[in-house]
Amino acid sequence: MTSDINILSARRTFFLAVNTGFVTEGIPDHRFLDFYATRSSPELHCSIIGNVVVPRGYGSNAVTPILTENPIWSDIAASIKAGGSVPGIQLATAWEGYVGSRKFRAPEPHAFISEARRLVDHMTADDVGSVLSSFGLATDIAIQHGFRHVQIHAAHGYLLSLLIDFRINRNAAAVLDELASLAERSKRLGIETSIRISLKTGDADFDSSGTMQLQDSVAKLPFDFVDLSSGFYNIDKRLIYPARTEVIEARLQESLAVGARHPARSFIISGHALRHDWTDIGPNFHPGVCRDLIANPRFLQERQNGCRNQNKCHYYSRGGNHLTCGRWKPLPDHS
Ligand SMILES: Cc1cc2nc3c(=O)[nH]c(=O)nc-3n(C[C@H](O)[C@H](O)[C@H](O)COP(=O)(O)O)c2cc1C
Repeated sequence: MTSDINILSARRTFFLAVNTGFVTEGIPDHRFLDFYATRSSPELHCSIIGNVVVPRGYGSNAVTPILTENPIWSDIAASIKAGGSVPGIQLATAWEGYVGSRKFRAPEPHAFISEARRLVDHMTADDVGSVLSSFGLATDIAIQHGFRHVQIHAAHGYLLSLLIDFRINRNAAAVLDELASLAERSKRLGIETSIRISLKTGDADFDSSGTMQLQDSVAKLPFDFVDLSSGFYNIDKRLIYPARTEVIEARLQESLAVGARHPARSFIISGHALRHDWTDIGPNFHPGVCRDLIANPRFLQERQNGCRNQNKCHYYSRGGNHLTCGRWKPLPDHS
């Protein structure tokens, strides 16, 4: 682990999206507010709350928050800002009938890709237009609430990750054009922008061709940051939350390879990112942190004291309905 504060002070550190489950009937509650308020600090550039369902959208589980005009969203943005970080929000949608797998690895990874192709084939141009306009509407609502970084969730096998991929959607180029317009529009409104993608799905056959082309098509979009995650939830979750050293190292190398092809674009990299030695990592990379900050809200001030991979945070896979952690305890539920 590097202790070189100077190397990291030139980077922007992000708290990456967590679907906490701290909601009551789709609306974030006091546990959600406390979770983000206590993790905000001057050392953290931006806290991206996640994943938040756009209007008319579909959650990835029963406890996914839905963006509305409710003032609690403004309170959350204000509490993150008061702590010293930019309030950010990850916007997402799944689709009607989406069910997240409880298993970490799908027994037949290709089944999900086939299902995804069928789903996208049945969508009309109007259906796709309506999905994209929901993201525009959600961006406006988020800005009204005080969020100053908007992330488009196009990773992990949710709807946009299917729509942007030319291997799944024959009209992917048009979707990428629309996302470019959305990024430009958000920038004109004065906010920072990012898009999150998966470096690969976890289906080795599918990933063996076209992966680089997809990454490059997204890296060319005018978002301020491309957030490089990995894995599709219903194919291989071990890629989303890497725990083994070799998986973390492979993700780092895959991320660095994308960044090397696009030196003018900024990238967020994750997978216990602050445990890497950043000395030789290019200036266009920025660390995204998740489990270390879940485990210790003061992780950025106490960098030796983070997540210990106890795996308790995977509440959905474990049959729970809100975030748990072997090291940190949430406030009790008063609802
Ligand atoms: C409990 C939990 C919930 C997560 N929820 C989301 C989510 O809603 N959206 C998302 O893009 N990533 C989600 N992630 C993935 C993280 O944002 C992050 O990419 C991943 O944990 C790897 O970073 P880390 O090694 O710093 O934890 C979640 C991770 C965990 C552990």
